[in-house]
Amino acid sequence: EVTDNREPHRPQFHFTPPSHWMNDPNGMFYLDGEYHLSYQYYPDSTVWGPMHWGHAVSKDLVRWEHLPIALYPDSLGYIFSGGSVVDLKNTSGFGTADNPPVVAAFTHHDPVGEKEGRDDFQTQSIAYSLDKGRTWKKYSDNPVLANSAGIRDFRDPKVIWHEASQKWIMALAVYDRVQFFGSEDLKSWQYLSEFGIVGDDRLWECPDLFPLYIPETDQTKWVLLVSIQKDAPNGGTATSYFIGDFDGSKFMGDPGDQKWLDWGTDNYAFVTWDNAPVEPTQRLGIGWMSNWQYAQEVPTVTWRSAMTLPRILSLTPDGSGYTLVSNPVDAVKGLRSVETKLPSLTILGEQVVRGSFSPSQCEILLKTDLEKTTAGLFGITLSNGAGDRLILGFDRDNQQVWADRRGSGPSGFSEEFFKGPHAAPLPMDADAGGDLRIFLDVASVEVFAEGGRMNFTEIFFPSEPYDTLTLWSDEGEWVLQSGSVYSLDGTW
Ligand code: FRU
Repeated sequence: EVTDNREPHRPQFHFTPPSHWMNDPNGMFYLDGEYHLSYQYYPDSTVWGPMHWGHAVSKDLVRWEHLPIALYPDSLGYIFSGGSVVDLKNTSGFGTADNPPVVAAFTHHDPVGEKEGRDDFQTQSIAYSLDKGRTWKKYSDNPVLANSAGIRDFRDPKVIWHEASQKWIMALAVYDRVQFFGSEDLKSWQYLSEFGIVGDDRLWECPDLFPLYIPETDQTKWVLLVSIQKDAPNGGTATSYFIGDFDGSKFMGDPGDQKWLDWGTDNYAFVTWDNAPVEPTQRLGIGWMSNWQYAQEVPTVTWRSAMTLPRILSLTPDGSGYTLVSNPVDAVKGLRSVETKLPSLTILGEQVVRGSFSPSQCEILLKTDLEKTTAGLFGITLSNGAGDRLILGFDRDNQQVWADRRGSGPSGFSEEFFKGPHAAPLPMDADAGGDLRIFLDVASVEVFAEGGRMNFTEIFFPSEPYDTLTLWSDEGEWVLQSGSVYSLDGTW
């Protein structure tokens, strides 16, 4: 099916499937100049169904080319989430050292077993490609990891090469915890250990384990991403993380809480690329820009869901430990066309900002002078002639950012969607940076605050594109040191 990518609500510089249903990003790897992105895909409907791995490639992470479906369901079941690795040493023997195979690990979800009431219907399997991801062959001896304990939620394998112990490590979501398995050849897996929170029985999904080097402390720490299926800070589903150490068999979390990768409602199943050409201080990832509370009800017609902007993760010391920082990949800067510079500005009440940009598709950079600003609350409103409004508030009194999408477009498709406002902690003392970077793409907003320490991603569905951008302050002045709005090119 072809689309001109100009339907109402279709993002213009975010990844969306050509048509039909999409959820989690899957099997991302980089090879020979191409970033591969697969995704949970049901090509026959705009709601969830028998899962396939859809597939796309990009040379720059912003312009994507759709490829044929990589993996189809088979007699072992649907193809659920998982990760791919480039098997550079051909440990699997599927390829040669000159033409290393790409190996995808995924969950086989057997709907028949589930229906019959068995508990072992999720198992782990692999497939490989010898032609840069163009075609895939499932391993003849699947599954490679049986569900011998019969645990109903046993899925989403994500594999990394562990250099120190020269073996593959798989992180697997097993109901309310992550289990780790080791392998020398990607085919035979041994149980190593598990990690969970005592007393916490929320469902965990889509784990991802990787190291990051921190130059400031000359340390390498390990990050464990885990998506949590309910009761996220702003409702429903969201991606969380733990920081700790990994010795080749066990993950030991640092003291401190589970933290949120993104405080908005719409960044789930965030996982990272294998073999990406980034520094040891960085890891490249992407999330599904929706929430299971309403993903299947949002008012798009020919397709459902988009991915977040691809983001670079890094760790920064924060006094007591480390914070995971995420920022959009640099390639996004290449989409900037005309810049509308905002002079140093004092806002008292409301001020509409006009320039060579559409508020529906732009990047906003704002630097607040937190010393001179006297308003306890200031913010940004997007609006249109139909009376729809999306409001972002920066609340100094409560050291919070919030998004209010309750009036952001026609309601009725979901009750959960229109709850709110949604809030996140944001330091706004005089010595906090005061910088904001905001991306708007037709139906989504992504806020990167304090250099990426705080991410806030939300979707919305106005009845017509937002065409007015208003800056406002409440009881006092909002003093902007500098600001710019860039119009951004579409990539489709
Ligand atoms: C997360 C998830 C995964 C599963 C997939 C099924 O959104 O529930 O745990 O593999 O979606 O589509």
